[in-house]
Amino acid sequence: MAVHVALTGATGFLGLRLLRLLLDTHRSLTVLAHAGSGDALHRITRFFELTGAPAALTAELPSRLRVVETDLARPRLGLTERAFQELADTVGTLWHSAGSINLEGDLPELRRTNVEGTRQVLELAAASRLRPRVIHVSTAFVAGARREGVAYEDELDADDGFENAYERSKYEAELLVRAWSGQHRRPVLVLRPSILVTDRPPHPELPAHPLLVVERILRDAPRAAGHPPVPYGGTRAGRPRVRLVGHPACRLNLLQVEHAAEVMVRLAARTPSGGVDTYHVVHDRDVPGPVVLGLLERLAPLAIDLVDAAPDPPTALEALLGSYPGMTAYLSHRRRFDDTRVRSLLGASAVSAPVGPAYLWSGLAPRAEGVPAPPGPPAAGARSALRP
Ligand SMILES: NC(=O)c1ccc[n+]([C@@H]2O[C@H](COP(=O)([O-])OP(=O)(O)OC[C@H]3O[C@@H](n4cnc5c(N)ncnc54)[C@H](OP(=O)(O)O)[C@@H]3O)[C@@H](O)[C@H]2O)c1
Repeated sequence: MAVHVALTGATGFLGLRLLRLLLDTHRSLTVLAHAGSGDALHRITRFFELTGAPAALTAELPSRLRVVETDLARPRLGLTERAFQELADTVGTLWHSAGSINLEGDLPELRRTNVEGTRQVLELAAASRLRPRVIHVSTAFVAGARREGVAYEDELDADDGFENAYERSKYEAELLVRAWSGQHRRPVLVLRPSILVTDRPPHPELPAHPLLVVERILRDAPRAAGHPPVPYGGTRAGRPRVRLVGHPACRLNLLQVEHAAEVMVRLAARTPSGGVDTYHVVHDRDVPGPVVLGLLERLAPLAIDLVDAAPDPPTALEALLGSYPGMTAYLSHRRRFDDTRVRSLLGASAVSAPVGPAYLWSGLAPRAEGVPAPPGPPAAGARSALRP
């Protein structure tokens, strides 16, 4: 009999892609949805419709998905003892992709969802008579505030501190996973993606991705700081100037979310070693920070300059944006994520297409009057700006 899979976070930016792929090999799945956060089946169905999934597959969703309402932040995921045990005994593989990715969240709030939530998921796995395999979605950013050098897949320490409470909470969740695996002698797969992106245009019914969240913060900031509206497409000199602390050689590891999900599902299909297997799911080439900033400042529109030290005194706009330290810290990062383990298992197929400006623009630009065309010549295969 095929192993039954349950998945947390299936309504999320990554979880929706994982769910879509898992349906290729599993007749039915259990979705551990976020209780009180809207109709999960409807949200999943809308994702399938908006992203062009075959109509027959979309129509089958109600019969192929069992939705169980859960809350990571509550004991036993908010279920009664009986419901928790009954659920546990149906699960053969447990994907844990739910979490809070709020880079500006405070530690107690992030711990509740990311650390205590992971504890509840591990308890579900421990309670099951089927001894389910656990697949834990972490982040490459458990590497913390080490800004240079190389982060390796077998590393997990707090030596360099963390840029924000999100990173710390994900690090603590990985510590829990390791301890649980040792205590219960159970294999766990830990997947550490970098920053996930898409070229699918923003849509109110699709989950936002981290760069889109940043774009929205930057776009709203001038108005909040009292600047008159600046039209798109003007010269740089005509836009509000923002000095942000960062390094001119900063770089970001951005990976297409569909590719990340594919690599994850393929890694999950490998025979586990028996302990904790950890993989960096990252792009082989980083994107220079100034390329990303160049897109964001055209969309905001702003004129962003990287400087060595915080402006003193800051303008109202700079003070406002300086209040997002968990986010702006990445403008100083020049480290690389090593993914030798993934490459040695999956070979050249682990390498994804380049993430260029046209790709990023497509996934960021609002569908609004006057928004300029993407910078540079359209990349081969780039989606039309008019697609949902
Ligand atoms: N996105 C990235 O670039 C990125 C990069 C590295 C690692 N990751 C990791 O990948 C995982 C998925 O991220 P994502 O981008 O899919 O995030 P997302 O779009 O914010 O989705 C988060 C998911 O978690 C669910 N969730 C949140 N709080 C919950 C709670 N208290 N109880 C139950 N479910 C809850 C959400 O349900 P609702 O939508 O209903 O609230 C949603 O399905 C996370 O563990 C994240 O740390 C993401």
